[in-house]
Amino acid sequence: MVVVRTVEALKEARESLRGSIGFVPTMGALHHGHLSLMRQAREETDTLIVSIFVNPTQFLEGEDLESYPRREEADRKICELAGVDILFMPTIDQMYESDELAIGAPAIKGYILEGEKRPGHFDGMLQVVMKLLNLSGATRAYFGKKDAQQLVLIEQMVKNYFMDVKIIACEIVREESGLALSSRNAYMTPQEHQRAHALSRALKCASKSIMAGEREVAQLKAQMLTVLEETDRVEYVAIVDRAFRPLEQVEIGNTIILVAAWVGKPRLIDNIWV
Ligand code: PAJ
Repeated sequence: MVVVRTVEALKEARESLRGSIGFVPTMGALHHGHLSLMRQAREETDTLIVSIFVNPTQFLEGEDLESYPRREEADRKICELAGVDILFMPTIDQMYESDELAIGAPAIKGYILEGEKRPGHFDGMLQVVMKLLNLSGATRAYFGKKDAQQLVLIEQMVKNYFMDVKIIACEIVREESGLALSSRNAYMTPQEHQRAHALSRALKCASKSIMAGEREVAQLKAQMLTVLEETDRVEYVAIVDRAFRPLEQVEIGNTIILVAAWVGKPRLIDNIWV
């Protein structure tokens, strides 16, 4: 595995590459969710590039940019074991200059749910993903459904800007208990961790009701909110179609159910695709 920290070194490392390039962008503190993306990329492409970059432009004022978990040594070892060919770990000044042109998330889809709670987050996310996709030269780039709105917006950016890369949507990896893996889970105490299961339980409850024939979004949301009482504060429960338009009735094969809630220090998100 080659570890590169500059754009120049990445370009150099890419020069000798032949065949397809799989790319997994991350912010580090790697867990089995990230690993599953790497594993899939490893199987489907000739070369695997992973990036670790805690991107400042997608954090809002007052968010956890400074305290975001950074575990460089452990992450390097995980990448090595996962068969990564090139690990790109740039510094901020390698990625940004002052007074850059910006990419804006779409006016509706980019400013509802996560985009409403974290205005500007998706602008910064898309900006860095555009940079990273260009730098990696990826033929296929892998993203988790865990960040469903992020994934849908990246797919739209690739389409709107005619970018020559295939976006691969990967399944959510969960603990046996159902809790979706996240780097931010590390912020929770064992008791909070226990209460955090309410998110996946609420989603499971909705999916059971749907299997039993319930289609009314209002009903499903009400059921979910009861389960979510165990969290400290629910930010939203949403049932949308795959283009993030709100639904009144669940459409099987075209629905995403999402939840965001606070449990202790972290704000957690989870979702299921129905
Ligand atoms: P990060 O939160 O590190 O996540 C990197 C990738 O791992 C994302 O595609 C995310 O959806 C996926 N992922 C995280 N937890 C997962 C889980 N439990 N199961 C499956 N996939 C999971 O998302 C980002 O970083 C950043 O916004 C980034 C795209 C790197 C841009 O800065």
